[in-house]
Amino acid sequence: MTEESRKSIHGQWSSRLAFILAATGSAVGLGNIWKFPYITGENGGGAFVLVYLLCIALIGIPVMMSEILIGRRGRRSPINTMRMLAAEEGIPKLWVLLGWAGVVAGFLILSYYSVIAGWAVAYVFRAASGVFTGVTADGIGAMFGDLVGNPEAQLGWHTIFMVMTTMVVARGVRSGLEAAVRFLMPGLFVLLLVLLGFSMNTGYFEQGLDFMFSVDFSKLSTAAVLTAMGHAFFTLSLGMGAIMVYGSYLSRNTSIAKTSVVIALLDTLVALIAGMAIFPIVFANGLEPASGPGLIFQTLPLAFGHMPGGVLFGTLFFVLLVFAAWTSAISLIEPAVAWLVENRDMNRVRAATLVGMITWLLGIVTILSFNRWAFEFDFAGETKGSGIFDILDILTSNIMLPLGGLAMAIFAGWMMKKTSVVDELKMGEGMLFKAWYVVVRYVTPVAVGIVFLNLVGVVRF
Ligand code: TRP
Repeated sequence: MTEESRKSIHGQWSSRLAFILAATGSAVGLGNIWKFPYITGENGGGAFVLVYLLCIALIGIPVMMSEILIGRRGRRSPINTMRMLAAEEGIPKLWVLLGWAGVVAGFLILSYYSVIAGWAVAYVFRAASGVFTGVTADGIGAMFGDLVGNPEAQLGWHTIFMVMTTMVVARGVRSGLEAAVRFLMPGLFVLLLVLLGFSMNTGYFEQGLDFMFSVDFSKLSTAAVLTAMGHAFFTLSLGMGAIMVYGSYLSRNTSIAKTSVVIALLDTLVALIAGMAIFPIVFANGLEPASGPGLIFQTLPLAFGHMPGGVLFGTLFFVLLVFAAWTSAISLIEPAVAWLVENRDMNRVRAATLVGMITWLLGIVTILSFNRWAFEFDFAGETKGSGIFDILDILTSNIMLPLGGLAMAIFAGWMMKKTSVVDELKMGEGMLFKAWYVVVRYVTPVAVGIVFLNLVGVVRF
């Protein structure tokens, strides 16, 4: 193929910075601020955090490079990219299934992601109304209970968030996605620092740090290792084609390796700061670190309710959290939308509306799983309390994303010709390239494989 024909019909990022912002916008979201703290709390802290960090460095960054390189080589929606590269590289057409699996995972993830983002929208209004001022931990707990116990209210917030997401996706790559991230991400970062400052003065900062960073392997269960690995994929948006489709809009002369490292570092920094801000508040108020998906909604309002300017900071914080979720959500349906535009001859508006409506419907299941349909079940020796929401989360982050990421590593490491990979990465064939190649060919498959074998009980550690 010639250079000229390797252009995406959907447009291109205006610059390397624009891509970094968009990919970071996809990576940084509820996963960092909502999910990372609550799963760290549920899985005992330090040892879990260490496994998570190792997974980011050893699996996440190399898989991200693979995913971007596949996307940029194919220059189409993930489904068509897989089809075209399979033909170009002379390997089985079956690989197109990887593109389809990603589309399905995107629908499933966004269906519950949007419900949680809806909680954040609701909290914007609560923060602005001043109800957090001077409130106790019990009061905040009751407010959260009111929200999750009320399906109609959640449906309203979920609808608002899905409409927002569909609108941006409908507008397309440049005008829609780029504009949103440029100012909002730095704003979120600043507010996290404000929260961190508050937590440092609670008198429990050290206890928070201790919980997050002192490693005690006896607290690490099989399920925790799988969750840590799954979260590394989730938080970096890997394994379902979101980063692949963003890569397909990337100009040919941007360094994939450097960009991946920058995105992973920013993402990790945000998650760690969120954790360091939240756990001191948990301990200062005698809350339970393992209290599940409601954790940030039961801790952060306490901070805002007791700091000077809390109404303003609280409102701003939840606004920015909604934006962070928004810039992530759009990447979850972009692969499906790009495919509809390419293969069904739809314009972006119709494609985005269709995909948005399907996701909206699916989201209703998650809403009901917190109230009318709630049930408990055991997963790898742990009790989960929110029925279908937990099942969706485990199925997508802990199973589909690691398998998808594994398949992408195998695709780049074993299926594509080495010359194609070298040509696309543009980093020569020096030490760094060799290290990456060994990792995607051997380390990633073995690591993901061991974690799964451990889960199904074939090996035990
Ligand atoms: N990474 C985002 C977060 O941490 C969520 C997300 C966006 C995502 N796109 C994705 C997760 C693709 C998995 C796959 O909030």
